[in-house]
Amino acid sequence: MEPQFDLVIRGGTVATAADIFSCDIGIAGAKVVALARDLPRGTDEIDATGLLVLPGGIDSHVHLDQYQGEGIVMADGFETGSRSAAAGGNTCIVPYALQRKGQSLREAVADYHVKAAGNSLLDYGFHLIISDPTPAVLGQELPALIADGYTSVKIFMTYDDLVLKDREILEVLSIARQYGAMVMIHAEGYDQIKFMTDKLEQAGKTAPYYHAASRPQLVEREATHRAIAHAELVDVPVMIVHVSGGEAMEQIEWARSKGIRVYAETCPQYLVLTADHLKGLNMDHAGTKYVCSPPPRDRASQEAIWRGIVNGTFQTFSSDHCPFRYEDTAGKSNPKSKTSFRWVPNGIPGVAARMPILFSEGVTKGRISLQRFVELTSTNHAKLFGMYPAKGTIAIGSDADITLWDPSRKVTMTQSLMHHGSDYTPYEGMEVRGWPVTTILRGKVIFDEGVALVERGFGQFLTRDAAGRI
Ligand code: URP
Ligand code: ZN
Ligand code: ZN
Repeated sequence: MEPQFDLVIRGGTVATAADIFSCDIGIAGAKVVALARDLPRGTDEIDATGLLVLPGGIDSHVHLDQYQGEGIVMADGFETGSRSAAAGGNTCIVPYALQRKGQSLREAVADYHVKAAGNSLLDYGFHLIISDPTPAVLGQELPALIADGYTSVKIFMTYDDLVLKDREILEVLSIARQYGAMVMIHAEGYDQIKFMTDKLEQAGKTAPYYHAASRPQLVEREATHRAIAHAELVDVPVMIVHVSGGEAMEQIEWARSKGIRVYAETCPQYLVLTADHLKGLNMDHAGTKYVCSPPPRDRASQEAIWRGIVNGTFQTFSSDHCPFRYEDTAGKSNPKSKTSFRWVPNGIPGVAARMPILFSEGVTKGRISLQRFVELTSTNHAKLFGMYPAKGTIAIGSDADITLWDPSRKVTMTQSLMHHGSDYTPYEGMEVRGWPVTTILRGKVIFDEGVALVERGFGQFLTRDAAGRI
């Protein structure tokens, strides 16, 4: 008799956002079809004794092959970026399709489909970045794209090429309310940053470290408050992304206490890096390796972020993987970046390091439960961005997207383990306990013990449902 299952994962400890239980998992084709002890043999078998069996990680904040302006090139496209994500225990990513000023939004989406198609190892969707909310974008393109399953949008309150005026933010929020999209907001105030940058440069303070000084927490706090007020006025939920410390968190917690629906995301850099990393071990330019926005803060901010991870202020933990090469004139070492922090490309790689860092610092050290880990790294991303329950859980009928995790493996994180296109990792030398050993996407082992087992192009584009509530 033909085996009933193509693959059985046997003897592991299964954890979802809701539960932990011991059972085998029967997979037929791309789907989970049985959860029970002592399942009959499958065509293939994986012995997961001693391992955790988790829903594949979903990283809903990654930047791949994203246009950066003249002379700057992102270090990962969809092939290397998705491979790095698979190495880090992820099965699904949601990068951005960036609209350049003057460009139609539909055309931007088509461009990113070309970049991704045939390249991604992982399943993927796109958030839309709106930089030019013309009447045509707001009136026709955005509603049509939301209806087509592009149900999330990111907007920026800073960056020359991306910043929206307050009125434009309000207009985007209104469309999101009308058609059911989730708006992710980069909350740092443009004018305050420009003012501080000019003052610092006039005082000769141009080293990478001053990037952090140019955008202190109050810049993030002010913009977070303003974004929330806009969302309250329009009466639409929003998500504040890459929250770096207690001041923005207080705004989010205050809003929730008033019944305003605000979701929040944080990232590994705010748990394990500080602004001191931008000093670059006394080699000034090496500080550029840590330049991202918002910048890493201080120990007190790390503690505040932990508080939010534990108490539920944050719904998602994402990498904000935004990779550049260090030894590269198209990256962190572009000629202008030597003259001032102003010109250092913002962003750091982290898609492979995200889950190990949260597991080790959170679960292994006893700060959070395994279920909370699953919620923060997978389930809530699927729910918020319209992919649940096909993605983000282990249940009968869901996609067999599974990460086998060794909770006791001790690993020193190093560049060669990241499999990304950057020539460094900001987490070099960090010791973690807990590591993804095997990544399974739609029933197929795609990454095992540091080796990719599928070709580029295995990943499929995901049309997503309307933004969910959690
Ligand atoms: O520095 C960062 N985070 N760069 C990526 C772009 C963004 O704002 O998320
Ligand atoms: Zn951002
Ligand atoms: Zn980002």
